[in-house]
Amino acid sequence: MEKSQSQKKCVIVFDSGIGGLNILNACAAKYPQLDYVYAADNFNVPYGNKSAEEVFGLSTGVLDGAMRFMPSAIVVACNTVTAECIDRLRERYAVPVIGMQPAVKEAAAYGGDCAVLVTRATAESANFNKLIEHNFSEARVYPCSHLADYIEKNISSLPENLPESLVKIEGKPESIVLGCTHYMYLSAQFRRAYGCRIFDGSEGTARRLGKILGISDHLNEKSGICDHFSEKNSQIVYYGGDINKNRRIYEQIFKNL
Ligand code: DGL
Repeated sequence: MEKSQSQKKCVIVFDSGIGGLNILNACAAKYPQLDYVYAADNFNVPYGNKSAEEVFGLSTGVLDGAMRFMPSAIVVACNTVTAECIDRLRERYAVPVIGMQPAVKEAAAYGGDCAVLVTRATAESANFNKLIEHNFSEARVYPCSHLADYIEKNISSLPENLPESLVKIEGKPESIVLGCTHYMYLSAQFRRAYGCRIFDGSEGTARRLGKILGISDHLNEKSGICDHFSEKNSQIVYYGGDINKNRRIYEQIFKNL
């Protein structure tokens, strides 16, 4: 096992690029008793304008290799990959594969006018359209073709305000669903611009991981402070794409989350 000495269970968290670090952060905060492999594909990011076939091929290209870490589960920290090929990934790997869907159900429960922002591939996928149809057909869906790429390229210098040419929401929604993990880096900007509730699905995905592995989180419910562990308990390995470059950049981003 490549990750050596540690006897802890290990989980792969996978995204096309930097977006999934937000989910890694949520998982590591809740479950520091696990080790993590952050797998990403910075040679091919963004995935959001690619076909289902391409996304499946690229995802398995990274995940097949990452399986050498002998994970107990895979978290697909990418709404696009989940929308386009989660069933095929579940068939392929002999461990639980946890997907990530835009938090449309939570937004529906909150009610009111809602804008759902997703990549073009997610917007066009059957899985996503079923999700919307069954849970929140009144929600307004906005495919953002270039936003993830913009965030990936400008992560160290994101502007104070939303890049208007890339985000076009009509009116003043009462909630916004960030249906791509990259968009979470602009949560504060969305909150400032629209002053409304923001849903991103990261907590729900982390909770699902714990449920599937049958582990409890060690956060003290009252204080929100981790009782027995700290994030430093988790060993985090970076995998995929240009590994040396990724390790440097991802460690820096992760530290600041
Ligand atoms: N972060 C991904 C998502 O959640 C995909 C972004 C991209 O590669 O286009 O959809």
